[in-house]
Amino acid sequence: MDSLGYYNGKWGPLDEMTVPMNDRGCYFGDGVYDATCAANGVIFALDEHIDRFFNSAKLLEIEIGLTKEELKKTLNEMHSKVDKGEYQVYWQTTRGTGRRSHVFPAGPSNLWIMIKPILIDDLHKKIKLITIEDTRFLHCNIKTLNLIPNVIASQRVLEAGCQEAVFHRGETVTECAHSNVHIIKNGRFITHPTDNLILRGIARSHLLQACVRLNIPVDEREFTLPELFDADEVLVSSSGTFGLSADTIDGKNVGGKAPELLKKIQDEVLREFIEATGYAPAWSRV
Ligand SMILES: Cc1ncc(COP(=O)(O)O)c(C=O)c1O
Repeated sequence: MDSLGYYNGKWGPLDEMTVPMNDRGCYFGDGVYDATCAANGVIFALDEHIDRFFNSAKLLEIEIGLTKEELKKTLNEMHSKVDKGEYQVYWQTTRGTGRRSHVFPAGPSNLWIMIKPILIDDLHKKIKLITIEDTRFLHCNIKTLNLIPNVIASQRVLEAGCQEAVFHRGETVTECAHSNVHIIKNGRFITHPTDNLILRGIARSHLLQACVRLNIPVDEREFTLPELFDADEVLVSSSGTFGLSADTIDGKNVGGKAPELLKKIQDEVLREFIEATGYAPAWSRV
């Protein structure tokens, strides 16, 4: 099977799966999710993603009817049913099933899993970004299903022939539509702190840990649009996109001033992935 869908114990080819109309995910987007990449039969950084998933659910008072270990087992079991290759493993839980009513229904939450092929992004390639005012709500630290501003931003990105949108609140850079954003300046790695304005990206954490191992100073602090445009390097990160660097933002040239430091960091996060999965993406072998 090249893709798989799972819903409350039933599973099958992803495109053939259906869900009940009364699932609260369908009309309120009342749920949380998490996602990571997998290769060679190994789901990367699974414990960290499961921890964040349980934390998101807790912050929204969603009762997940299984333990972390049980979820891990189910995800691994489902992942073992797809062909070997590079995958995204995505799961979400929605706050139960019932006729539309704002107050919480009794009963356990629903578990959905979606596994589909992806390609781990080539760290050698440069990407193009655009900037968009961040008009999202103030709970961006919770990985909720409510991603409409992110969806619209991603459409603008596609129309602009670019790869990601950098959100900003006024002058302050926050994160991207589906990644975190970081800058390198004067040998320091600078990234927005893990407050309520960004998602605490797992790939972000791995970049920070790589910097610590490499003795590169890290500043978790707010940075501004002028700092972004003036940075020595601009990176975006997400699971499957470990730390891609940008060469233009809004059509203006950026970065490219600390290629050696950038490569050191990228090589380190890639090394960690290869060590954990025993799998080197094709582009890393040439
Ligand atoms: C808004 C947003 N920020 C950051 C990230 C990066 O998170 P991670 O590194 O855990 O994939 C994502 C990934 O889905 C995201 O949607």
